[in-house]
Amino acid sequence: MTDRLSSGLFSRRQLVYSNASPNMKTRRLWPRFLDLPLRVKFFLSFLAVICFGGVVSLYFGTRLEHKTIFDLAQAKVRHDLSSAWTVYTERLNDIRDIVRLNAARDSVRGALGGRDLATLQSTLDRIRHEFGLDIMTLTDARGRVVFRLRNPDASGDDQSHDPLVRRALQRATVAGTEIITREELLKEGEDLARRALLPVKPTPMAVPRTDEREENGMLLKAASPVMDEDGALLGVLVGGILLNRNYDIVDRVKDIVFKGERYKGKEIGTVTIFQNDLRISTNVTDESGGRAVGTRVSREVNQTVLREGRPWIGRAFVVSHWYITAYEPIRNIDGRIIGMLYVGMLEKPYIDLRNRVMLTFTGIAAACTALLLLLMYIIITSVIMPLRRMVNATQRIAQGDLDHKVVRNSQDEIGQLALSFNRMTDKLKEANEGLLQWTRTLEGRVEERTEEVRRMQDVLVHSEKMASLGKISAGVAHEINNPLTSILLNTHLMLEKIEPSHPFHESLGLIADETTRCSQIVKGLLEFARQNPPQKVKTDLNALLEKTVGLLENQAAFQNIIILRNLAEDLPPLWLDKTKIQQVFWNLMINAAEAMPRGGTLMISSRLAADAPAVEVRFTDTGTGIPPEILNKLFDPFFTTKSSGTGLGLAMCYGIVEQHQGKITVESDPGNGASFTVSLPIEHEGQS
Ligand SMILES: Nc1ncnc2c1ncn2[C@@H]1O[C@H](COP(=O)(O)OP(=O)(O)O)[C@@H](O)[C@H]1O
Ligand SMILES: [Mg+2]
Repeated sequence: MTDRLSSGLFSRRQLVYSNASPNMKTRRLWPRFLDLPLRVKFFLSFLAVICFGGVVSLYFGTRLEHKTIFDLAQAKVRHDLSSAWTVYTERLNDIRDIVRLNAARDSVRGALGGRDLATLQSTLDRIRHEFGLDIMTLTDARGRVVFRLRNPDASGDDQSHDPLVRRALQRATVAGTEIITREELLKEGEDLARRALLPVKPTPMAVPRTDEREENGMLLKAASPVMDEDGALLGVLVGGILLNRNYDIVDRVKDIVFKGERYKGKEIGTVTIFQNDLRISTNVTDESGGRAVGTRVSREVNQTVLREGRPWIGRAFVVSHWYITAYEPIRNIDGRIIGMLYVGMLEKPYIDLRNRVMLTFTGIAAACTALLLLLMYIIITSVIMPLRRMVNATQRIAQGDLDHKVVRNSQDEIGQLALSFNRMTDKLKEANEGLLQWTRTLEGRVEERTEEVRRMQDVLVHSEKMASLGKISAGVAHEINNPLTSILLNTHLMLEKIEPSHPFHESLGLIADETTRCSQIVKGLLEFARQNPPQKVKTDLNALLEKTVGLLENQAAFQNIIILRNLAEDLPPLWLDKTKIQQVFWNLMINAAEAMPRGGTLMISSRLAADAPAVEVRFTDTGTGIPPEILNKLFDPFFTTKSSGTGLGLAMCYGIVEQHQGKITVESDPGNGASFTVSLPIEHEGQS
């Protein structure tokens, strides 16, 4: 069930997709075009426009040019046809004139009147040969043949049915083209009938024809009345030429109109006389090179010219080549269409001319296209290059190079864009630097604050520790102090009472010394615990230092130690408990000496503190130095690294300095010495 349902759904969806596919294809193609680089897009668009324009103008150009050339050719062929007509009618007029002039000859008149056939024969024979006529016939006043020049035996038949003879009997001289039957031809002469007889060659495009040969003949014929001096009609003189296989006219036309011009070995112009649709006199040649008599005209021309009596001008395939042709009907004296006159020009020269022009035209178009494309390429490049530079610049900026600048070559939109872009980069850089600066400041501040907090914490922890230690020490010291004083007092009393040689004397001395030491410790503890408030007096600090140094200098511990002084002279007097501060200096100098058991240098300096109203005294030695891990324990009571140390010296110093609202700090370079700094505030009298 589910399967069926889902398959049904699937097929429906497929249907939808297949319907949408052509649309999707264009949609897929279009973004692909849009994704192309700008330069390619421009180029393709321009190319399309140019190609479209080129194809359209080439198409219309070709058509126009073709039409122009062929219009010209047709005008020429029409003109040539009228020239052909001139030759044709001239020949007809010739015959008419010959007949008319000879009809008026005395010899003809006399011969006809007297029936002197022998004289007539010799006269007419001369005329016939002189003027190239095929027939010469004489009738009597009723139209009966009196004498046939070429066939004197055939006479007596009636010719009054002949349209020309009929007109001549009415005393008119007439000429025209006529078709006469084989029968009539035979009467005029057997050779003429033979000349007229033409086998009809099968022609593919012609109207089908049942008979296989043409027996009738076509004549240019004239008839003129023969009259005596009084004007009485004696008879009619008829003269004519058979057009079948007579090439005089067609060749004359060709010579006059085309002047024997040839194109690639072929005659350009051709002329033909048709008897109905059959070529009877022509200079069109067939495949074998002979005259193409016996072939027929196409169905189309047949219809237009022979049936409808209209001229036909156009392209036609004549025997073996294409021609530009003109056909016009030949009518007999009664106006009936009996044949055609044709003039044709070989189409090939015009085709070649057209092709040459076209080729030139195409060549020029191609050159122009190439030139346009080149121009376009230059223009596109000049437009794209700055954009390309801009894209590069954005990429470099994205990678963090905010110093990169776009080169600005123009004042146009792209130039303005570059300017704005550079401005934007500057602003970005400024903002970035501000941000970096701010971050650095923030980091510094955080560090500073952290350090401060840590220091405060240390101080807090230390002073808490000191405070609780102080309380214990003070309590213990106070309790021990009195018994110690009493022990010391009694020991001294006992020592005074006994002789130095007494065995207890040495022991008592030892007790006195150790007790003194104990009381010193207690004193130190009490100092540390700030038991005695300081007795501050106005003090010259340098003098106090000198005094302390003077007391210590001669001690054994200082024998190998050079003491240097660097004491500031302009120090203000300080309010201090001289004894306690001297104790501090003393302890620090002793510690320094103990750190330099093999000698060294102790530098004592004093100066005004730079950042606070205070005086700093600094003791710098070149001793062992202090390892960093014990730095924060130095001021703890009882912290010592010495076997016989009490660990109270620095604790005491700390207590005293704190009583003076001062500070004591230590710096050390392990292995190279340590430096203790005591900072004492500058107070005025009455402050504490
Ligand atoms: N100038 C100094 N150079 C090296 N170490 C020192 C110096 N001053 C003090 N110390 C160290 O500090 C410890 C504590 O000194 P102090 O409180 O005077 O006690 P004590 O001198 O009895 O050891 C010393 O044991 C010593 O290790
Ligand atoms: Mg000490």
